[in-house]
Amino acid sequence: MDILVIGSGGREHAIVWCAAKSKRVDKIYCAPGNAGTAKTAENVSIKVDDINGLLKFAREKKIGLTIVGPEIPLVAGIVDIFEAEGLKIFGPNKAAAQMEGSKAFTKNLFKKYRIPTADFGEFDKSTDAVKYIKAHKKYPLVVKADGLAAGKGVIIAANEAEAIGAVKDIMDLKIFGGAGKRTVIEEFLEGEEASILAFTDGETVLPLPASQDHKRIFDGDKGPNTGGMGAYAPAPLITPALAEKIKNEILLPTVSALRSEGIIYKGILYAGIMMTKDGPKVLEYNVRFGDPETQAVLPLLKTDLLELCLASAEGRLKDIKMEIENKASITVVLASKGYPGDYEKGREIAGLDAFDNMNDVMVFHAGTTIKNGKIVTAGGRVLNVTAVAKDIRSAIEKVYKHIDKAHFEGVYYRKDVGRKALKWRFL
Ligand code: AMP
Ligand code: GLY
Repeated sequence: MDILVIGSGGREHAIVWCAAKSKRVDKIYCAPGNAGTAKTAENVSIKVDDINGLLKFAREKKIGLTIVGPEIPLVAGIVDIFEAEGLKIFGPNKAAAQMEGSKAFTKNLFKKYRIPTADFGEFDKSTDAVKYIKAHKKYPLVVKADGLAAGKGVIIAANEAEAIGAVKDIMDLKIFGGAGKRTVIEEFLEGEEASILAFTDGETVLPLPASQDHKRIFDGDKGPNTGGMGAYAPAPLITPALAEKIKNEILLPTVSALRSEGIIYKGILYAGIMMTKDGPKVLEYNVRFGDPETQAVLPLLKTDLLELCLASAEGRLKDIKMEIENKASITVVLASKGYPGDYEKGREIAGLDAFDNMNDVMVFHAGTTIKNGKIVTAGGRVLNVTAVAKDIRSAIEKVYKHIDKAHFEGVYYRKDVGRKALKWRFL
């Protein structure tokens, strides 16, 4: 069948790369894609939020399955619209996508169904939020804007003045736009984070190996937050026993809670988990594959990606046995100078051919485009170099051995991706 992948990041290149291995796939389209997806797929210049354009294209090309990368079209209801037209699509519908679209919706679901999370209050008036803060004595305190804020809507306040300032910024000054109509204020959870991405059809949950993102720009988790500077999997923090606990006490109760609310969640359920001294707690859900986690995790997937996506969309995941390589994987993001602040675009990228026939080392493009026949930078996060090896230590060695083969002026990457994993003695 012909498939359509929506998005243009490293995540979507990894999805295209993985889908291309499927025997069921004839042709892949990617909207809008990047210079990397153009090698395997045909890029079509339709934006991810142009749902009518995407629908028209899928209808005309008789697309057998659409895989949605980013959250924006999901939260806007692309799945409902495609399904109403009889088009198969992988991802949650609009009601289910509230899990990422509204923190208040998700936190209230956790409360109602007793799913372990940080204690919280939810406010639609800044005066009430300030009252709550004044009655609160323990710091830091976490202030979150309610809607989509491109991963930026979370402020960790060190004291009362900062917390009140955050509420005013979000609700009165609307620094995150419409996401500031409501805030969620919650207790700060201490611990290490992990990302659990799971296929689900609203009934069965099949978790991929746990991964860890590296959100800060500088080594040692310093500096401002980014979209993610690297990831590795499996994360030893999540032992097999813990993975089972997270599945049974967080993921399955979540899809079952949604079912009780009349919502069938299909697609990828991505739990941001904090491993606290009281056990795993869920910080947030995303309703899609993570970026850059996907670039590390999908290379470990042995099962046909298309089978998994189709089984999720058709509600028959219980018949699928998901197989994972007994190896480790790491991805390191190459970013433009200045990112996550202002950065330059249009720098020519050299050395990409070096990765063409390499075994277990891949380069997934993010912000790249083709200009006058040359591949140039077109975003903050530009490339992801991924290496797969027998264990995480060897994967780290491998990725850093090859990473400099790709080059552009001002290239920056973290040198310590995966280091967190090495503190575990059993490795
Ligand atoms: P969210 O968008 O809710 O995942 O928040 C983004 C990031 O903020 C998380 O990945 C955490 O690093 C941090 N964070 C969010 N909520 C909390 C919390 N309750 N305690 C500690 N850190 C948090
Ligand atoms: N890796 C963070 C995200 O995909 O939201």
